[in-house]
Amino acid sequence: MRCTSLWKTVFFVVAGLVTLRGGDVVATPVQDTANNACTQIAHAVSSASGVFFPSDPTSHYASDVEHWAITSSQNSTCSVEPGTAKDLGSVLQILGRTRTSFAVKGGGHATNPGFSSTKGVQISLARFNGVTYNANTQTADVGAGLVWDDVYTQLLAHGVIAIGGRMSGVGVAGFSLGGGYSYLTNQHGLGHDNIVAYELVLPSGAVTTVTETSNSDLFFALRGGWNNFGIVTKFTMKTYPQGQVWGGIIEISSEHLDAVNAATLNYIENAADPKSALAASYVFSPSSGLVSLLVLFYSEPSPPSGLFDDFLSIPAIVQDISTRSYVSLVQSVPETANLRTFYHTVPHAFYDASTLNTIVNETSFWGEKLANDSFVSLTYVAEPFLPTILTHSTSPTAWPPSRNKAFLPTNVAIKWSDPAADTLMHDSISASVQNVINVANQDGQGLDNAPFYGNYALFSTPVQSIYGSNLGRLKKIKATYDPQNVMSLAGGWKI
Ligand SMILES: Cc1cc2nc3c(=O)[nH]c(=O)nc-3n(C[C@H](O)[C@H](O)[C@H](O)COP(=O)(O)OP(=O)(O)OC[C@H]3O[C@@H](n4cnc5c(N)ncnc54)[C@H](O)[C@@H]3O)c2cc1C
Ligand SMILES: *[C@@H]1O[C@H](CO)[C@@H](O)[C@H](O)[C@H]1NC(C)=O
Ligand SMILES: *[C@@H]1O[C@H](CO)[C@@H](O)[C@H](O)[C@H]1NC(C)=O
Ligand SMILES: *[C@@H]1O[C@H](CO)[C@@H](O)[C@H](O)[C@H]1NC(C)=O
Repeated sequence: MRCTSLWKTVFFVVAGLVTLRGGDVVATPVQDTANNACTQIAHAVSSASGVFFPSDPTSHYASDVEHWAITSSQNSTCSVEPGTAKDLGSVLQILGRTRTSFAVKGGGHATNPGFSSTKGVQISLARFNGVTYNANTQTADVGAGLVWDDVYTQLLAHGVIAIGGRMSGVGVAGFSLGGGYSYLTNQHGLGHDNIVAYELVLPSGAVTTVTETSNSDLFFALRGGWNNFGIVTKFTMKTYPQGQVWGGIIEISSEHLDAVNAATLNYIENAADPKSALAASYVFSPSSGLVSLLVLFYSEPSPPSGLFDDFLSIPAIVQDISTRSYVSLVQSVPETANLRTFYHTVPHAFYDASTLNTIVNETSFWGEKLANDSFVSLTYVAEPFLPTILTHSTSPTAWPPSRNKAFLPTNVAIKWSDPAADTLMHDSISASVQNVINVANQDGQGLDNAPFYGNYALFSTPVQSIYGSNLGRLKKIKATYDPQNVMSLAGGWKI
């Protein structure tokens, strides 16, 4: 049986969410321990930090426990906003000593229950919110509590950009600690390939700066290791000159799907232009049926003629394409927060006509099958990055475990409203992804050892499928820097 303990943990978390929904607030052992830890933390930290309880009349507690997906939210016993790395060190020491369950939240976009939420102590990094651009090194120091929108806005004021999320609200921290696919990934690689230093609070409470030369083990581990090695408070990242970009969204009805697929395959066959990017979504919802939502991107004010013409000539329901700021493009991509949502992924080797047809069939098939179960939508996003995206960094990374071949992180999202359907939705998205993998394997994609992208993968995915042959080295590094296993008190992908 794979990953039994994770299963149990997650089942407990999901079950806990369901029981709490009725508003019955029964003290559990978790809360007793957590209450004690909250009190100790409040005494230990400096005035730069804050500790908040559910009765908090300010909005701190509410915003600290808030998450993009309802399924990823829990009401913690208290929330802590550390104001300094040193205070965060004290917090970790208390949590470790009292063995209190806790969670670490950056932007709160985790789509797996309990990955950044808890009934114990919620740590919010909201006060690590600085952006400092250093023109000499062309790097920026970015606080771990920020979302990319704020980073983009502040960096664009200096005429530069960093490698971050493609939709509004995504956190710098989870994105950068797991990989990070950006509109600029074809040009500059994954997000974490562009990070040169981390300020890290170790599980012991000590504050350290990790660079490739200062500590090659931790530098390797943080590039895909999330919260297994401590809590990052600041990222130093490369920046690149950036002016106006071109692009936006096009929404197309199902009668033109063949044209969408043809244009997508044509773009993939001919696109060698690293300044361009495409995300091709297929969305099925009971209200709108099947539609395609395309995001087109070019990192200059206009694309070379011909590059996107096929897409632009298809009759559209919505076509919002223009020359605009980078942040305006990111914020123009529609998203729906506050729903029950699970993400999953297929690590495709390539996209061909069979892949796209399979994806189209899957969205409609499950949409119709789940129509009576509070189903809202199923989305598959083809993300045709260039085969060269892993060549922008030569240093080894925790993820992906091999940099010899770039797999494509096809994103799958299922949304619904009824908590009673959580297991059904989990099983449905799993079955759908397995079917897409089976078809891909029949088509010769050879996905048996392809690494799953942990920022998309469903919680029941074994960590072995994310880290592959890196798991052994990661376990050793973990044993060195977290001998008391403090970070196992927080949810997430556990090494
Ligand atoms: C609408 C939407 C759009 C997305 N778009 C993209 C995209 O374009 N490209 C892409 O690659 N991914 C994308 N993702 C996936 C995204 O990268 C992950 O959800 C990511 O983990 C979010 O980071 P966060 O800080 O917001 O999440 P959080 O929920 O705050 O954290 C995620 C994980 O990281 C851990 N963590 C957070 N902060 C720290 C820290 N400072 N130190 C140690 N551990 C920490 C948490 O404990 C948790 O396990 C998207 C997700 C959504 C919901
Ligand atoms: C958290 O508490 C608030 C206020 O009591 C409640 O409205 C909300 O549903 C709770 N959230 C969860 C996930 O239990
Ligand atoms: C459509 O998807 C379903 C579910 O995976 C599968 O059973 C069925 O065979 C598929 N149909 C086609 C035509 O591919
Ligand atoms: C959904 O419910 C309607 C009305 O009860 C029923 O006719 C239909 O067959 C159901 N669909 C599925 C997929 O179960």
